[in-house]
Amino acid sequence: MAGIDASFKLGGILLSKERINQRVAELAADINNEYRGERLIIVGVLKGAVIFMADLVRMIESSIDVRMDFMAVSSYGNSSSSSGAVKIIKDMDTPAEGEHIILVEDIMDTGLTLSYLKDMLAARNPRSFRTCVLLEKPDRKTVECTIEYKGFEIPDKFVVGYGLDYAGKWRNLGDIWCLEEG
Ligand code: IMP
Repeated sequence: MAGIDASFKLGGILLSKERINQRVAELAADINNEYRGERLIIVGVLKGAVIFMADLVRMIESSIDVRMDFMAVSSYGNSSSSSGAVKIIKDMDTPAEGEHIILVEDIMDTGLTLSYLKDMLAARNPRSFRTCVLLEKPDRKTVECTIEYKGFEIPDKFVVGYGLDYAGKWRNLGDIWCLEEG
């Protein structure tokens, strides 16, 4: 069947769906403990954070008044290295002022995207602002950016699955895979 890029193929599984599920439950438990009884806007960064966010919000208890919102920013396009450019394609629909906000992102690579969004949203005077990021590549970091809820630190490898893509592909995989040239 046509459609799969010839230059990269799936290597091995880096994080199994079982490990991911367990870690997402731990992150949700931390959020449950810290926001009990509060109203909370969870803002996902499209499209990579969608699967992670969908699992996370379903583990948040009903005492928390959760609202979901989304932002879209320019990404690497069809390349596997960062251009460094961050452009807002879609902003939040709801005002952030006076709200508890958690920004949910799939992966922090250089940190440019997250630190840009953090500065932008923090300037809107939310009641509180935190970040929840499934994966961090510490070796790639060029900008300091605190992650309050972090899933896993991973090596400097390009990964796909569980929402993460390469040129739009492989977001649907349940596990997180490394890519290899092929
Ligand atoms: P940063 O601005 O360099 O931190 O890049 C963050 C964005 O790059 C993420 O939201 C992803 O869209 C993309 N990205 C970085 N590394 C990977 C990867 O290994 N797999 C898939 N996307 C990645």
